[in-house]
Amino acid sequence: MARSRFMTLERHIIEGERMHPEATGELSRLLSDLAIAIKIISLEVNKAGIVDILGLTGDENVHGESVRKLDMYAHDMMFKAMDHGGHLCIMASEEEEDIIHIPTDFEIGRYVLLFDPLDGSSNIDANVSIGTIFSIYRRQSPDGLPGTLEDCLQPGYKQVAAGYVVYGSSTMLVYTAGHGVHGFTLDPSIGEFILSHPDIRIPQKGKIYSVNEGNYKYWHPGLKQYIKFLQEEDAPSSRPYSTRYIGSMVADVHRTLLYGGIFMYPADSRSPKGKLRLMYECNPVAFITEAAGGIATDGNMRLMDKVPEHLHERSPIFIGSPDDVNTLLRFLRRAEEAGLV
Ligand code: AHG
Ligand code: MN
Ligand code: MN
Repeated sequence: MARSRFMTLERHIIEGERMHPEATGELSRLLSDLAIAIKIISLEVNKAGIVDILGLTGDENVHGESVRKLDMYAHDMMFKAMDHGGHLCIMASEEEEDIIHIPTDFEIGRYVLLFDPLDGSSNIDANVSIGTIFSIYRRQSPDGLPGTLEDCLQPGYKQVAAGYVVYGSSTMLVYTAGHGVHGFTLDPSIGEFILSHPDIRIPQKGKIYSVNEGNYKYWHPGLKQYIKFLQEEDAPSSRPYSTRYIGSMVADVHRTLLYGGIFMYPADSRSPKGKLRLMYECNPVAFITEAAGGIATDGNMRLMDKVPEHLHERSPIFIGSPDDVNTLLRFLRRAEEAGLV
């Protein structure tokens, strides 16, 4: 009989840990708890059309955006799955203004969890892919005590693991613990994540750009010139590029990781810090993309070197294939040197 190459997420995490004898197993257990939360959210996302879960709750989140019911469901589920495992000392969520403490009757752990429970929520009602994003750090404050805001405000390069889930035509989880990026597809019949995309490497160069071009008027002149450049005809460099923009960052980044190219959410004259959140959205996908051989920058510096000042701060993001991001950076610099900014 042929040897089985069937690899569940659980087994993959345990085997990954075996290669690091210094590991205690705590991070593995944390990731397993997370996988349970994700399976439950996935189930609910798939039911979204048939239960009364669509539509707004009527509240606004900390960013002044209307909150959809599924956002709150996913937020609560992440908290409930992660508060009692004994692995975390603190959490923070895009949907909650303050840091989230571990209830006092539960054990306090060594890790910090930041998450965007539901990304791309404006797409829910149209049955378009949405996702969940998470980021894990080691605590900086002394062990045994409740975690602090400083534990959450760490630069992205200190992440020990990060991942995202796409609830699409199937549910996929992509994660890295720093060594390799691995993608798992949820088999709904057995409720297991199965390794479907081992060791994902982003192509050196792509032929797709992804940005909300409706904001063109408000962009940096270098970005305008770059987009015009991508639209010119030049077969050897695969131009003109195609445009793809789903409006769910996880789905746009996931495609970029697999097919190559560049995803952008720039700053503009109306939003000088961009839209996406550094801690919940930009840093985790930056960690994953770099681990897959890509580049993630805010246009001036490496995203993961930014030292956050606020839990909910926003950042511009340019992320993707190395050749594409480097070309964009040249356009931005050139426009600045020409005094266009
Ligand atoms: P969220 O649903 O967590 O608030 O995130 C939505 C984000 C992100 O997923 C996406 O890339 C971006 O909003 C789309 O914004 P625009 O509609 O401005 O293009
Ligand atoms: Mn989001
Ligand atoms: Mn969200």
